[in-house]
Amino acid sequence: MGFETSDDAAVYKLDPERAVVQTVDYFTPVVDDPYTFGLIAAANALSDIYAMGAEPIFALNIIGFPVGKLPLKIMGEILRGGKDKAEEAGIPILGGHSIKDAELKYGLVVTGIVNPDKILTNRGAKPGDKLVLTKPLGIGIMTHAIKKDFLSPQLIELAVKTMTALNDKASKAAVEIGVNACTDVTGFGLLGHLNEMLEASGCGAVLELKRIPVLCGEVWELAEKGIVPGGGICNLDFLEGKIKWDEKISRSQKLVLSDPQTSGGLLISVADAKTERLIEKLNDFGTAAYVVGKVVKGKGIKVLG
Ligand code: CO
Ligand code: CO
Ligand code: CO
Repeated sequence: MGFETSDDAAVYKLDPERAVVQTVDYFTPVVDDPYTFGLIAAANALSDIYAMGAEPIFALNIIGFPVGKLPLKIMGEILRGGKDKAEEAGIPILGGHSIKDAELKYGLVVTGIVNPDKILTNRGAKPGDKLVLTKPLGIGIMTHAIKKDFLSPQLIELAVKTMTALNDKASKAAVEIGVNACTDVTGFGLLGHLNEMLEASGCGAVLELKRIPVLCGEVWELAEKGIVPGGGICNLDFLEGKIKWDEKISRSQKLVLSDPQTSGGLLISVADAKTERLIEKLNDFGTAAYVVGKVVKGKGIKVLG
């Protein structure tokens, strides 16, 4: 599996029982603390392996560092964060590559393994499926507010807790129950990643605004005040014409639904009859689960007010 499917990772079949799954993800800091940044970058990179229903086996570091501008101990702290998160995922970091860079960047190449018959892709969604999300939205808006110093320490902690949470258990629950499609919600936001899933699957979806979970009420307020990252505005523009909005829905509410997530949750399309069992399993594993809408025949996304 390669570029054509907009899936989360590349898949290369070794033999009938095993396929290698590989992904790379890196970005500039979303928080000030270097150790925390390392944790977030690693959780985010691992997420694409989990979104494929695969198990990670090892990782490599990628780091671009402004040598001379920042003390080297910052690099050490970032790498320590990455190592600790990889350890939590049960994998070693076996190497990597660093370059001198004008802007700090960090991430990982993660290699995983999966039974080819059990891969979760984004193309199997079927009309009648329920759409289940495993982390609330608003991370992009909250990290944007952190950069502008608009967020209280408690809310920063909430955003960090969400971004550093692994999608391992959500993935395990989805694989055990057997779901039709799965992806993780990252840079393109809920609507962008849902749109990719629907286009790959050849169907449409109906979402309900009142069922959309956000990290805290402040997410709606910040969006209302225009504290939104540029990426969210691009995401919304990109989807122009593909979404039918209820006329009651405001632009700031639309921007929450297109908010880019760093290390967001999984978006799972599951048969209606299995939905309750999936939610129970996710909750048993200590993972949140929100039914945000359903898959329908046709094309595009309809959002009810
Ligand atoms: Co992804
Ligand atoms: Co990715
Ligand atoms: Co090298």
